[in-house]
Amino acid sequence: MEHTDSLPKKVHIETWGCQMNAADSEKMLAMLAERNYSLTDQVEDADLVLLNTCHIREKARHKVLSRLGVLKELKSQKPGMKIAVSGCVAQAEGQKLLKAAPQIDILFGPGKIDELPNLLDEQKTTGKAALAVGFKREHVEPKPVVAPPTLSGAREVSRFVNIQQGCNNYCTFCVVPYTRGREVSRTPGEILAEVKAMVATGAREITLLGQNVNSYGNDLGSTDRGDMFVDLLAQVAKIDGLERLRFTTSNPHDLSPSLAELFKHEPKLGRYMHLPVQSGSNRILDVMKRKVTREEYLERVKWLRDAVPDMALSTDLIVGFPGETEEDFQETLKLVEECRFSFVFSFKYSPRKNTPAARFRDQVTEDIMDERLKRLNTLQDQITIAQNEAEIGKKRPILFLYESKKHPGHYYGRSEHFRLVRAQSEQSIVGLTRDVVITQANKIALLGELS
Ligand code: 5AD
Ligand code: SF4
Repeated sequence: MEHTDSLPKKVHIETWGCQMNAADSEKMLAMLAERNYSLTDQVEDADLVLLNTCHIREKARHKVLSRLGVLKELKSQKPGMKIAVSGCVAQAEGQKLLKAAPQIDILFGPGKIDELPNLLDEQKTTGKAALAVGFKREHVEPKPVVAPPTLSGAREVSRFVNIQQGCNNYCTFCVVPYTRGREVSRTPGEILAEVKAMVATGAREITLLGQNVNSYGNDLGSTDRGDMFVDLLAQVAKIDGLERLRFTTSNPHDLSPSLAELFKHEPKLGRYMHLPVQSGSNRILDVMKRKVTREEYLERVKWLRDAVPDMALSTDLIVGFPGETEEDFQETLKLVEECRFSFVFSFKYSPRKNTPAARFRDQVTEDIMDERLKRLNTLQDQITIAQNEAEIGKKRPILFLYESKKHPGHYYGRSEHFRLVRAQSEQSIVGLTRDVVITQANKIALLGELS
């Protein structure tokens, strides 16, 4: 289709929050590239500034408004500049955000990304802000899949592929089902085509993304379902040129023993998985509506470690959920000791508007949350450091992802266990898998020598 505005233009994209948002930003960039936009990292040079926002924890609205304040100034000096806000804050706030920040030209939620070109046209024709919020009710097969451009502008070895939008779980603390809607899966054909396109442009590691990847395909209406996520992984892993296949985020509730089996037989999956538990207390898990008890979580860990004895696991934990007592928190610490996670993403509970937990009594004070977070992090740091130090002297295959900016000639990659490893090399080893003997370790990364 011919567009009247085919003059070259520049877009500046700021992406906050999860990997899903990063993948969405790449999709938006691909659509904008068709409209002759190219990426700039200088906001002052941009004809279009796109804020792709996150709403998972507090202060999201505040952060967006404060950034919009700065952009308003910039726009007053550069009148043709357009401002677009997407992501979960756009979805949650809608018209309210437009009222509070009339400098916005385009506002759309994560379910309406495909409408970005139409919104640009609409805004141009009417001269008024264009808005699209709400969810896709069902899957719409898009145009032939090509690898979207990377946000860095460079070839990336590790890329994300969205396999599913939304979440049906309604954990009582979480805003995602309200901002991203109910689960809608992409078809296996579409996902395979996108992965192949990315591998053809240099990707060697792919991470499949969804809020709850283990329930992938439940909405696709197949009669003979089995475990569609495990089938999808097995198919993607067959793609030539792909070396590592990862996925996130899993929900322990939907994890099946067949996934553990696949880990045993498919080396491309590596020996690492992120499996959020949120709390170690059954009482708190129940009020969170996680649908999995502490014992059931441990059972899933056992499936995985029976299949792969040195399986590295990470998790998400919330401290200070409403009603969490010292005893409940102790249960979380005990679970952390028992599971020996390789690392933990720990968060202070943050009440989100319209979620059930925001209305619960017994909200935990900020002081107590700070103190619990510190204790949890201290414990986990000890475990992470001990595990990293135990790597010293071992030889590990590392897929190298990028060159260090701070130390040119040094390259960062990840082990099968997802540990970050740095090694020096005369020539670029980006995109290659090389054996590395680990020589030093700290909390964040391992140092090693190519063997
Ligand atoms: N408060 C604190 N942490 C939260 N998360 C989700 N919602 C909240 C909230 N209201 C955390 C959970 C989830 C991760 C992505 O963010 O641990 O797994
Ligand atoms: Fe939120 Fe729970 Fe869905 Fe994860 S599973 S996105 S925590 S509602």
